[in-house]
Amino acid sequence: MSRMLPLAAPSFDEAEVEAVAEVVRSAWLTMGPRTATFEEAFAERVGTRHAVMVSSCTAALHVAFAALDIGPGDEVIVPSLTFVATANAVAYTGATPRFADIASLDRPVLDPDAVAAMIGPRTRAICAMHYGGWMGEIAALRALADRHGLPLVEDAAHAPGAFCAAGRAGSIGDVSCFSFFSNKNLVTGEGGMITTDDDGLARRLRLMRAHGMTATSWDRQRGHASGYDVVERGYNYRPSELEAALGLVQLGKLDDITAGRRRVVASYRAGLAGRPELVIPFAGEDEGSACHILPIVASSPEARDEIRRRAAADDVQTSVHYSPVHLFTIFAPQDPLPLTEEYSLREVTVPLFPAMTDDDVERVVRVLELQEAIA
Ligand SMILES: Cc1ncc(COP(=O)(O)O)c(C=O)c1O
Repeated sequence: MSRMLPLAAPSFDEAEVEAVAEVVRSAWLTMGPRTATFEEAFAERVGTRHAVMVSSCTAALHVAFAALDIGPGDEVIVPSLTFVATANAVAYTGATPRFADIASLDRPVLDPDAVAAMIGPRTRAICAMHYGGWMGEIAALRALADRHGLPLVEDAAHAPGAFCAAGRAGSIGDVSCFSFFSNKNLVTGEGGMITTDDDGLARRLRLMRAHGMTATSWDRQRGHASGYDVVERGYNYRPSELEAALGLVQLGKLDDITAGRRRVVASYRAGLAGRPELVIPFAGEDEGSACHILPIVASSPEARDEIRRRAAADDVQTSVHYSPVHLFTIFAPQDPLPLTEEYSLREVTVPLFPAMTDDDVERVVRVLELQEAIA
């Protein structure tokens, strides 16, 4: 029996172990000096004036929308083909997520024309998600947001290190949010980062992540403050120093991690080159991609289900990115989104992580070959 091939695996070695041990030895585990160092390094990497670390990307999205003063009665246009966090974060503010369709089966990101058609008097922002690590239509969405005087929020959970002609992921939106969850490209367990060039937004985001307090526990520990005021509606979205220490090590490896992912994606594309019935989105656009997940669109929902069954039988983990968010009970009722729904029924996500070997890719390609019998 061959070993289980997981969908994702973090790129850790002794450097991460030592970084965490050092934090434990320091006896200061909550938002402090390592958080500040990680924020500076991350802002430099993305090319923004500010980076604000928080406890997750969900928290990042929530305070991003809140700091844009989005609230009850407002609408934010979001993709449905995303993790539910994108829409939940809008709902936390009291605003309503409005779901727009994807551009096509091979460009499964917000369709700028669909978004344009949905903009109305209540629209307060557009939130673009870099599906799988590809930035897709971000330039058109930026231009659209500018034409309507709307802020653009990047859900860059999949995209640390990604870039396109319009710029680096995290530098195009008015505010952008990253995830460092265990299955992401840059892993800290839990954790998120917000990037922005806007000084006022950054100041509010820093307040909102820690109860709106004007001084943190670390300030008081160092004797820099003896009391505090509360000047914003805030939350406990503080990151831990353990996460920040992991983040610093992982950020140093990000180029290698991304190069490893792109190598595996190139290997998949080569292995599947003779299979026109399988669509691998964003052909020809891997150079700037963070290559976070590898989505494959099968010829039919039945073919997709069969691929998943056979993969499971061969101990190859697969997933579906995503169940359309607009179809979840909590957001009902919603208008249909034909492309998103078809994509979701035909898509299968296959293993992708930097340590995958050519033999691993070959094993998955063989599982996918079995589709021919039923295509
Ligand atoms: C597109 C997208 N947005 C937001 C999130 C939320 O990230 P976190 O788990 O860090 O809250 C995720 C995480 O899976 C995601 O994939």
